[in-house]
Formats: sequence, structure tokens, C-alpha cells
Amino acid sequence: MSAYPFTDHTYDVVVVGAGGAGLRATMGLAEAGLSTACLSKVFPTRSHTVAAQGGISAALGNMGEDDWRFHFYDTIKGSDWLGDQDAIEFMCKEAPSAVLELERFGLPFSRTEDGRIYQRPFGGMTTHYGKGIAQRTCAAADRTGHAMLHTLYQQSLKHNANFFIEYFAIDLIMEDGECRGVVALDLSTGTLHRFRAHTTILATGGYGRIYFSCTSAHTCTGDGGGMVLRAGLPLQDMEFVQFHPTGIYGAGCLITEGVRGEGGILRNAQGERFMERYAPNAKDLASRDVVSRSMTIEIREGRGVGPDRDHIYLHLEHLGAEVIQKRLPGIAETSRIFAGVDVTRQPIPVIPTAHYNMGGIPCNVHGEVVTRKGDDPSAVVPGLMAIGEAACVSVHGANRLGSNSLLDLVVFGRAAARRCAQVVKPGTGHRPLAADAGDLAVSRLDRYRNAAGKRPTADVRLTMQRTMQDHAAVFRSGETLREGCRKLAGVFEAMDDLRVADRSLVFNTDLVETLELENLLLQAAATIHSAAGREESRGAHAREDFPQRDDAQWLKHSLAWVSADGQVHLDYRPVQLDTLTDEVEPVPPRARTY
Ligand code: FUM
Repeated sequence: MSAYPFTDHTYDVVVVGAGGAGLRATMGLAEAGLSTACLSKVFPTRSHTVAAQGGISAALGNMGEDDWRFHFYDTIKGSDWLGDQDAIEFMCKEAPSAVLELERFGLPFSRTEDGRIYQRPFGGMTTHYGKGIAQRTCAAADRTGHAMLHTLYQQSLKHNANFFIEYFAIDLIMEDGECRGVVALDLSTGTLHRFRAHTTILATGGYGRIYFSCTSAHTCTGDGGGMVLRAGLPLQDMEFVQFHPTGIYGAGCLITEGVRGEGGILRNAQGERFMERYAPNAKDLASRDVVSRSMTIEIREGRGVGPDRDHIYLHLEHLGAEVIQKRLPGIAETSRIFAGVDVTRQPIPVIPTAHYNMGGIPCNVHGEVVTRKGDDPSAVVPGLMAIGEAACVSVHGANRLGSNSLLDLVVFGRAAARRCAQVVKPGTGHRPLAADAGDLAVSRLDRYRNAAGKRPTADVRLTMQRTMQDHAAVFRSGETLREGCRKLAGVFEAMDDLRVADRSLVFNTDLVETLELENLLLQAAATIHSAAGREESRGAHAREDFPQRDDAQWLKHSLAWVSADGQVHLDYRPVQLDTLTDEVEPVPPRARTY
């Protein structure tokens, strides 16, 4: 008998991850009568969506004129034309109903005087195709993600979804190119479980922890992306990593863009509102890539603040204590704890900080994972779906607009549940699994559990994080990226010299962090190699040696396959420039103006 016996489970659908996307899918599946298991390595309401502050976009028009077509245009422009226009149409058109549905589910949105959902301006959100400023971001003060998670978890319980909490998914069960389920470790008992399902939905979030400084929780280790790469499938557009302009200097915690939406201002050491120079129209509410680059230039040119002139001040004192208390209570508390400032009297020290992965597991608008197969650039992988930050639909292209992330979670979480309800008949029988199903997961677990080298996991992880921070941040060049690729190859070698001190299986965080590190490292390699390959500047990918966007060569999605030893193979697939319907005109690539 194996040293790691499996407990077997069978469901119609298994969802891995219980953030906003995973929970919206789970409740929709359970509501549709499909037997559904949701696995989460943390308690659902502690998933990273809880940290989303500013809000969720939807052209409700509660605070002035708006139209989903304006939202569609802004999202394409924000994506620097790398977003797929059919998917963007789908998301922006579905947005109002997805948000009103959340309101009906009980999400406690902030309110206008006449009782409608409160909406604030966010970067890059305009009316009339760039002419006016839209107030499109629906907010529950500055704790919108927290409110969303609680609402969706309660709804999932109401529909009798089954939760497997503190279950860490290790690997997919693949048979002849089809996904048959997933293997997971129950962290509290150390037992291994095989979940067999007609469809497995990966909702595992981003991989922000490849960087030294990020707004992402320690749990954001890209577990779904790691599993997909080990299954021999590619990840898409991994070079596009968003740096949020306002992470707290030194701590990395997010200070919502909602601060600037409410009137907050960035100033340099001379007290200058420098965004007026870089983006005369949008100013502090230009899209995040523009603001992050502008701040970095100010710092590089010696106009940063602080003793080392290495950060920028975000001022909101002028908003007054009443507005801060009503609209931004969370960031007042975060700033007090992590920066020691009273925001009613002092500016917050901020710096661009890794925040969001535009790239991920390629999929279509139904959430079905796709891959390049021969001449077909969009062949569906049977039995496998991806949603949320783990996925690349691609609605965010080269740069995501703030508050489009919470929207992506609920729109595509709902779409995936609807697709499953169309294609999976509740209770349909399953073929037996192959005799070796789950062996890949067991061999990895066993190898790391007994790793007896010299390098602790935390030490190797830090080397990876510093490499990515130094070589693949806001500005990049061929030289620094290639040097980063070389250093990362050294990190892959260090994985053979790992030391895991804890040999037990019960709550073995040393082992779990090692499995997470492997997931991170594979995606760090995909990120830096894809970045070295893309010789242009687009959205969040700013190459100093190729400063222009080059649509003739590079209007295409990158695909990266990564082997266990860190070898990366790159290929490309076309961007969808046509819309889904004739309700809106495609937006052809244009020059950028801010
Ligand atoms: O700034 C923020 O509140 C973050 C929002 C987002 O990333 O969508």
C-alpha cells in the first residue's frame, strides 16, 4: 500500500479557490443543481479578494451619464489594445446586471442621498469615449472586496455548496489531454484526496508573490498557473504585471485608487502635483501604468521624497475628516498602522508596488481553458476552466483598469457556472480514473517533504523575489531582463538543494510553502522570459530599449510553456479585434493620449 493513500470524492464540478470568482462560480453551480465542491487553502472569507478596496466597475449611471459602450472603449484603450474585444464587450455589457445581482444578494454598498449605489471615479474611466470623467466604480466604502466575499460565501452556503476548507490543491489529474479532477492535501490532517469531476474550475488567484514588494497576500502563489504548466499547457501574456501606484512605502499594503478618485493628489519633493505634466487631462487619475511610470521617473530624477528621495507623497488632508471617515475609513486605519501617519494631517508615503497579473491561464468567455494545438490557436482543453486573476480571458490586455478586477471575478464566475449548467447534466456517471491518477502530485509532495539539502525554502524564495524586483519591474530593458533570466536559472538549480525541516504532514507549512514556491518560480520564469521576448512597450510592459508600441510586430498574445527545470518555450496567438455582436463598433489601435 502507498505511503500516501487517497480518499476519493466525486462531484459534477470542482472549484479550486474561494475568492470572488471561485465563490460566484460555486454559488451559481450549486444553484443550478450541480453537485459542487469548492476547495480553498484558506477560510473563504480570508481569500485575497478581501483586500480589494476601491470597488467594482459597472456603467450604472447613478452619479451622472454612463453607458456600457463607454466602459468597453475605456477598457480597450486601458488594455493598450491587447485585450480581446469580444470578451471586453461581454464583460462591460454584463456588468450592470452582475452588480445589481450582488446588491440583491445583500452586498452592503455605500449609498447616494437618494438610496442608489454610490459610484466614484477611477483611473481611465471616461464618458463619451474619453471626453468626460465617469463615476463608474461601485463602492462599499473602501472595503468592497470584503463585503463581496461575505455576500458570496453566504449565498453559496444557502445553496448547499460543499466546502473543503484548508485543502491545498497540488496537481491536476490529466488523462489524454483531458482534465479529470484534482489532487489536494488536507492541511489539518495531512491526508491526500482525489476529487474527480466533469469540470475542474481553477479560481486560484494571481502570483504576486514572485515580487519582493507587492500588495498581494502571502497566499497569492499562483497555484492554478503552476498546475497548468506542469500539465504541459501554456500561460498567456505573463509579461504584463501591473504596478499599483500607491502601495505604502516599505510595507507594500494597498492604498486604494479610490483615494485619488475622491480627490487625493500625488506630490513630489518640491510639492509639485507632477501628474499635471505627464497626463494633462486625467492627471492623478490616468491609468495605473502611466501613473506608476511617472512616479518612477520623478524618483529617478531626484524629486522623490523622504531622506533617500525614494518615494512620493499622497495627500488627502484637504478632503477633510468627514469625507475620509465616510468614504475611506479602511485606508485611514491602514496608514496609521503601516505608515504611522494620521491621514487627516499628514501625507501617505507611497511607491509603485506589484499588484495584479494581467496574464494567466488562457481561456474563452465561458471560462473554458484554451491552448494552441497545431493550427488552432484556441483549442478547448476538455474538463478544465479558469476564472478570475488566475485566468487570462483576456479582458485586461496589457494593463487593467482599476475596479475591472472585481467585475471580472463576478462576470466570469457567473459565466463559468452557466456554461457548466449547459454542458454537465447533474449526476452524470464518471469513468474510472487511470491507475496512476495522482502519481505526479504524490511524487512532488514526497520529494519536497524529504528534501535534505542546504537551502531553506524562505532563502530560495527571497532570491527569486529580489531577482524579479530588480529585473522585471516598472521599467525593463533587454539587458536587465536577460540578466534576470540567468539569475532565475540559478534559482531553479537551488531547488535541487532545498531543505525542508519539517517531515510531518499535519499543518506542515514548510512543505506547503515549498510546493507554493515551485508554483511561483515556474510563473516567474514565464514572466521574465515573455518580457525579454516582447521587444516593444505596451501597457504595463515598458521597455527602455523599445519605447514605442509596435502593432505591426506585437499585436499578439504571448504563450509560455515552462518545464520543471525552468526551460521556457514561447509562441503567440492572435488578439481578437472583432466584437461579439454588432451592438458596438470594434476600436482599432490608436496612438495613446492621456
Ligand atoms: O485601488 C484599488 O482600490 C484597487 C482596485 C483594483 O485593483 O481594481
